[in-house]
Amino acid sequence: MMQDDLDALKAETEAALAEARDLRAWDAIRVGVLGKSGRLTTLLKELGKTPAEQRRERGAALNRLKEALTEVIEARRVALEQEALAARLAAERLDITLPPVPTAPGLVHPISRTLEEMAAIFGAMGFEIAEGPDVETDWHNFGALNIPGHHPARADHDTFYLPPAAEGAAPRVLRTHTSPVQVRTMLERQPPFRVIVPGRTYRADHDATHSPMFHQCEGLVIGRDITLAHLKGCLIDFLRAFFGIADLPVRFRASYFPFTEPSMEVDIGWNRKTGELGGGGDWLEILGSGMVQPKVLANCGIDPREWQGFAFGMGVERVTMLKHGIPDLRPFYESDIRWLRHYGFNPLAPAMLHEGVAP
Ligand code: PHE
Repeated sequence: MMQDDLDALKAETEAALAEARDLRAWDAIRVGVLGKSGRLTTLLKELGKTPAEQRRERGAALNRLKEALTEVIEARRVALEQEALAARLAAERLDITLPPVPTAPGLVHPISRTLEEMAAIFGAMGFEIAEGPDVETDWHNFGALNIPGHHPARADHDTFYLPPAAEGAAPRVLRTHTSPVQVRTMLERQPPFRVIVPGRTYRADHDATHSPMFHQCEGLVIGRDITLAHLKGCLIDFLRAFFGIADLPVRFRASYFPFTEPSMEVDIGWNRKTGELGGGGDWLEILGSGMVQPKVLANCGIDPREWQGFAFGMGVERVTMLKHGIPDLRPFYESDIRWLRHYGFNPLAPAMLHEGVAP
């Protein structure tokens, strides 16, 4: 009989625990069994009344029951806490999603793209970027470059003249080419160096292929033994990398610039009928170049007996139009979003030189 009441207490407690749906119900069960006047506690207190010969055994049985009940009660608490947490997590679930706000990513203007590509290609060849002002002195733009006041090249340049900054001050112009930055670079730095000069230039000219403001990219390499062979290799590599045509035909044709001697116009192969670049049998003039005229070196404080080098200059719009088949120059500056959507570039895919420059 004695053992029976303990078994019953165990069974009832377990059944009650299984029924308990929350921690309050659970706690009531715990107190009802293990509390100060709980059922088990009472049984333990009554141990004294047990006849002496049964007391030991009864005591041991009660202790085993206490251990077992403590364990199942604790296990149920853990289970109930987990259920409560799961229920709370489910109930308090937040919907943190929002309908996206559509963003219109900007596009990179073809001019900017070409300048980035030029910087990448010449950068891989060790060139640095040099800059100069758009408003130049007559001397930097012409005089130092061996274009004297009466020279017809001045008329060719359709120069925008500006009033001098002060009376008697040097006459000023909007630079008609990026070549004055050759002068500034040579005056400021000690050779050897190689620089490119991407920048805005200005000439009083306006039609489908000319704009009063346009862009050029100049190049200048000065060293002790820089030769025409370096000029040719450098420009052939550049043109093939820029147009992405590994066997692009390139031709050097004798020409004249006051600031280079000898001077060469550079042509690339194309097909006049289709406009396709490459081996189409026709030639297209693309840039001016030459060995820096010794007088220009001397004008810029560089001893032409010690140093020599080459320079080149090209129209950024022109090569951009050729590369991408853009027929008209004017939309470059009209900010027409439809034109930009068509010809613009993904800003997240910047110009990089994946293929490298031919060795
Ligand atoms: N400055 C020349 C032009 O605008 C281009 C050029 C630059 C030619 C450097 C030779 C050397 O036409």
